Amino acid sequence: MNIAMIGTGYVGLVSGACFSEFVDEVRCVDKDRKWIEDINRGVLPIYEPGLDILVNKNVEKKRLSFTTDLGASVKEADIVFIAVGTPSRRGDGYADLSYVYEAAKEIANNLEGYTVVVNKSTVPVGTARAMKKIIKDTNPDAKFDVSSNPEFLREGSAINDFMRPDRVVIGVESERAKAFMKELYRPLYLIETPMVITTLETAELIKYASNAFLATKISFINEIANLCEACGADVQDVAKGMGLDRRIGPKFLHAGPGFGGSCFPKDMQALIKIYQDNGITARIAEAVLQVNSAQRSRMVQKINDALDGNVHGKTIGILGLTFKPETNDMREAASLAIIPALVEGGAKVRATDPKGIDEAKKLLKGIEYFEDPYTTCKGADAVVILTEWNEYRALDLARLKKSMKGKAFIDLRNVYKFQEVKKLGFSYTGVGIGA
Ligand code: UGA
Repeated sequence: MNIAMIGTGYVGLVSGACFSEFVDEVRCVDKDRKWIEDINRGVLPIYEPGLDILVNKNVEKKRLSFTTDLGASVKEADIVFIAVGTPSRRGDGYADLSYVYEAAKEIANNLEGYTVVVNKSTVPVGTARAMKKIIKDTNPDAKFDVSSNPEFLREGSAINDFMRPDRVVIGVESERAKAFMKELYRPLYLIETPMVITTLETAELIKYASNAFLATKISFINEIANLCEACGADVQDVAKGMGLDRRIGPKFLHAGPGFGGSCFPKDMQALIKIYQDNGITARIAEAVLQVNSAQRSRMVQKINDALDGNVHGKTIGILGLTFKPETNDMREAASLAIIPALVEGGAKVRATDPKGIDEAKKLLKGIEYFEDPYTTCKGADAVVILTEWNEYRALDLARLKKSMKGKAFIDLRNVYKFQEVKKLGFSYTGVGIGA
């Protein structure tokens, strides 16, 4: 079986590399010549644990290649995936589908023999059907079916998520396309991965509903955290007590500075638009975004409060800049909302991150960057843990305290127990720790 993966961004690159483990050949295509040249030189443009090993191995075995030649790749393929970006359209929150439709047109012009054209990008309900019409209009003789096969990869653990998914969702219209897709995912079927085979529209909505539900869990626990602070409760124990109920589950109940990344904020906005287009008010989705945005501001207030009500003239050491650990991705990271507010308030910010400094430098100006947490916090009045990298889970707290001038320890990911931090002479601020 041969695959063409159109779009070699995060999803395309990870999915292409993973598929190359169990199909005959995967050709990953991108328009960005430099991007493809870099990958072909062995320089991956994104950081994802284990991805370099997987790419190198399969490139060497000639099962995986990277090219700008869409036509040749599509002609050879049994299944063509579209994994191009669907950014928020400037100003209105709609997912921008121009790259998806452009790809569909180009694919249509190059189809040879029966091919399944699969959408993997996160797209509004109805997009696969629109894609089908575009392909048909562009090439009326093409023998093809469309399919919707959303991805559920998390950055930082994407390879494991791909190889051992909780489920695979496949939207199809014909038995032939269904057979192709089942054959493609057969190795996962053998490890008893549940397959949800459904219509195009349902598959598209499963993706949004899943992300929206996870985002809702996060905003819910953040709002509970705020209540914990007001009434002297501990959100971590509340989450534990809730999560042990199997109907609720323990995951995605970590209070913090609110969700970021390339998916939840964008997908929530797009979902609200889908509701609007269908004449329904998205009350929960709207509230989830409002709580998330308020949580960012609340974190800035927390830092001010921990520094006697004002960050002006204070030095603050920030540990962690990316939107979550194990990635260099800065999209919608909490740091991008919190740090500019601190700088605006007159703070001197010193920051570090294990993988994100290069990206951060493009986005966060007027702050100083350092390699390790202790140098970052040298002479600081406060230390703020903003991303829960493993490197910051086992800090030498005594050494950290010694390098600082002040004693404010602001743990926005609740990594530490306040008793152990206070013992060393720090003052402690967490999220939802009301005691
Ligand atoms: C998310 C989903 O988890 C994936 O299933 C989905 O495939 C992906 O979006 C996508 O649509 O492509 P990702 O954005 O990589 O994956 O990261 P998550 O691990 O879900 O974290 C998202 C944000 O939520 C992060 O900012 C994280 O810090 C925050 N978060 C997560 C919390 O604040 N609390 C939690 O308990 C969990």
